[in-house]
Amino acid sequence: AMNAFVRDLMAKMTLEEKIGQLNLVSVGFDVTGPIVSQNVEENIRKGLVGGVFNTFTPVAVRKLQELAVKQTRLHIPLLFGYDVVHGHKTILPIPLGLAATWDMAAIERSARIAAEESSADGLNWVYSPMVDIARDPRWGRIAEGSGEDTWYGAQVAKAMVKGYQENDLARDNTVMACVKHFALYGAAEAGRDYNTVDMSLQRMFQEYLPPYKAAIDAGVGSVMTSFNEINGVPATANPWLLNDLLRKQWGFKGLVVTDYTAINELVAHGIGKNEYEVGQQALAAGSDMDMVGEVYLKNLGKLVKDGKLSTAQIDAACQRVLEAKYKLGLFTDPYRYANEKRAKATILKKAFISDARDIARKSMVLLKNEKNVLPLKKSGTIALIGPLARNQRDMIGNWSAAGDWKRAVSVEQGIKTVTGGKVNIAYAKGANFTDDTLLIRRLNAHGGELKIDKRAPEEMIQEAVKVALTADVVVAVVGESQGMTGEAASRADIGLPGRQLDLLKALKQTGKPLVVVLMNGRPLTLPWEQNNADAILETWFAGTEAGNAIADVLFGDYNPSGKITATFPQVVGQVPIYYSHKTTGRPYGGELLDKYKSRYLDVSNEPLFPFGFGLSYTTFNYSKPQLNKTTFRPNEPVEVKVDVKNTGNFDGEEVVQLYIQDLVGSVTRPVKELKNFQKIFLKKGETRTVTFKITSEDLKFYNNQLQYGYEPGDFKVFVGTNSRDVQEVGFTLTE
Ligand code: IFM
Repeated sequence: AMNAFVRDLMAKMTLEEKIGQLNLVSVGFDVTGPIVSQNVEENIRKGLVGGVFNTFTPVAVRKLQELAVKQTRLHIPLLFGYDVVHGHKTILPIPLGLAATWDMAAIERSARIAAEESSADGLNWVYSPMVDIARDPRWGRIAEGSGEDTWYGAQVAKAMVKGYQENDLARDNTVMACVKHFALYGAAEAGRDYNTVDMSLQRMFQEYLPPYKAAIDAGVGSVMTSFNEINGVPATANPWLLNDLLRKQWGFKGLVVTDYTAINELVAHGIGKNEYEVGQQALAAGSDMDMVGEVYLKNLGKLVKDGKLSTAQIDAACQRVLEAKYKLGLFTDPYRYANEKRAKATILKKAFISDARDIARKSMVLLKNEKNVLPLKKSGTIALIGPLARNQRDMIGNWSAAGDWKRAVSVEQGIKTVTGGKVNIAYAKGANFTDDTLLIRRLNAHGGELKIDKRAPEEMIQEAVKVALTADVVVAVVGESQGMTGEAASRADIGLPGRQLDLLKALKQTGKPLVVVLMNGRPLTLPWEQNNADAILETWFAGTEAGNAIADVLFGDYNPSGKITATFPQVVGQVPIYYSHKTTGRPYGGELLDKYKSRYLDVSNEPLFPFGFGLSYTTFNYSKPQLNKTTFRPNEPVEVKVDVKNTGNFDGEEVVQLYIQDLVGSVTRPVKELKNFQKIFLKKGETRTVTFKITSEDLKFYNNQLQYGYEPGDFKVFVGTNSRDVQEVGFTLTE
């Protein structure tokens, strides 16, 4: 039933005013497409704008909100949206880093901090979470999601929505979340952004849709359509996707917004001749709000007049926009999110900064640690080398919203703080991210701010070698610049960019212990690094407190506990590579001379680092998992127990992972699928029994009729420290 307030309001609205509500304009600096909205203030006054994004601060928001509330005929307030993706002012690790925490409370907390800050700073709508499953690290936006796994992605989606909305949009410190990009944006062919997606329905339902569905079930207020086509029909004009699946099947009642000029782009996709045609298609398909493109503003009136769209269709979209505003309390107090006093007291407050540091430490993944070179001693001389060692700009990563990089802690500063100045730091930049001048220009045209050292690469490397020779240990902070990750930042070669690998090779020659600290927004190919570095610490882009958090880990004030949620390939040609693959009819089992197996001639099938991988300064020993029985009836829970012992010299946390394989199915099933995990803390020497329950819910899948259910038969259960290093037991599910 329609909300009575909204019904009464709509009864007073003209068609033009209703269409105005479907117009979302951009006012500000972060633009990711060609159009910047024109005549915004004039259009607001005329009642032709439903929402604004890229504007924040109480003063700026109040000014525009006043135009809408005081100067329009019906005084309808505006929505204020923004890409608050991993924090607003206190920047948390990029989402791929957040995912690596395997800590749902920390992930929810990150969204809560973002909501507290943004809701005080004028905003009521955030374009997050991004839950696109991504199995192709060439795609730059893999940085913005939780990685490759469906079940895990669904857990993160829930935690994020909870953190932003707290199940109560009526509060002034919650914001409406927007799950994106619906749908399958992460499956773009060849990892090239905005590229075509073509996928079987079975795979779609089984592997790619559940995280979006989890966000819907968690009550997310809005959904953003994706740029890509799905099996020939672009998402933004896809009635099956939006009207049938999202609204009818899943029961979504909220608002659907397009991505940036996604309706206009339907012409380039080739499903309509002009904006008049594609505007009709997008609205009829269920896209309510037009982001930036003004196709609705310019065409919907005529489309109704021409009988191509009904007023009922416009009403339905308008109603959803107004209901969102109503839920957010904007009709009661249109200025409730623009609160200078609250902004001052909230933004970058101490508790947020210390939580950001803690969450950042949790996101870091120790990929290698030979002969316990880490943690480092708080004495002696460290050669601190690399384009990210003294760098502040890149610490906050891509899509860092309103984050101020000048507030970010560099690695050098973090080391000084954490060691109390007790170590000598000998610095050299060593290499640029890239020496490709065209690439530098392209990145800097979009806020890259790459500062390039004009010296010859050899000279820079030689200087770094000299510095290294004076030190006890080399810490090389290398990786990608933030602008090499994120939207429109696909890479075909996913090794360290520029001359950074040459730099590492030269540093290795010095014979000094080599610690590689990585910053990057995607899995990288690091075969040389894996063979030659003494230690590798993956730190993603860790946010405002990056340098402090990295130093906490390097010097052992925090024992790393993160695990990667996207497989690192050995070489880019293995992509897509993911742990939950199928067996095929010719699985390769290590037979050296057997050519006719599913394998490569020039590289093994193994990843460099498997999903779920991450080391600790301590070691954990797992007992063989035990089941309470071996034969179960449906609806009878299976209980799995495993003893985990901390066998090393540090207290530490471990992510105990549970995977299941359905051995025989009416459709082929993956070799294993993550179905549960527990992150536990163990003092050194301590043993804990971890208990998991498996229910028939965990055994369900979509068959090729798209029916969702379990099938009786034999299953394997794997428990271990990552998706590869597991121990197994089996059980049978009876009819
Ligand atoms: O929210 C983003 C989206 O992820 C990519 N295109 C632009 C939108 C708004 O800035």
